Amino acid sequence: MSFPTCNREVGRKREILQIGDPDLRRRADPVDPADVTGSRVQELIDDLVCSMRAAGGAGLAATQVGEPLRVCVIEVEDNPRYPYKPRIPLTVLVNPTWTALTAERFRNNEGCLSVPGMRGDVERFTSIEIEALDRDGSPLRFTVGGLSAGTFQHECDHLDGLLFVDRLVDSLSLSTWDNFNRHRREEYLVRVAELVARYGQ
Ligand code: NI
Repeated sequence: MSFPTCNREVGRKREILQIGDPDLRRRADPVDPADVTGSRVQELIDDLVCSMRAAGGAGLAATQVGEPLRVCVIEVEDNPRYPYKPRIPLTVLVNPTWTALTAERFRNNEGCLSVPGMRGDVERFTSIEIEALDRDGSPLRFTVGGLSAGTFQHECDHLDGLLFVDRLVDSLSLSTWDNFNRHRREEYLVRVAELVARYGQ
């Protein structure tokens, strides 16, 4: 398995905090919109992108690198960690909030760079609207559905100090990645197939 290497000119690879670190559990502070284009936030964004790519993650939140600011990045290309995930172009969210567009939820199976080696089932809304600022400080508003909606909800949870293990719907769903692939992957893919078909790649 090989992941893109980090381009030092656009960011540096930061240590990703692991479950049990109290900083991971802090609720992050909003970024002052006037500060978005400042060097602290811009460097943080570059570091998040770099660290996410280096670790092969689908997303990374500032709390995961010990910065208590409401900033996260998401990107899904051909990801060996999640080969079934629909693609998401690189998205930078500052001060994201979301609202559910439906009461419908689905049972997702998630992993997290801060919970090494483990995956488990959580419930996520199937369709949400996100509001945020982009990295230029301009307002963003868009809807996301299907498995990708789960990814955005997961990253926003990090900014409130929450991890997927806080939302486990069934402790029996907790497994290592190997055991997920061995015992649960097929059932999961059948379960979410309709959702993936409905919202597309
Ligand atoms: Ni995570």
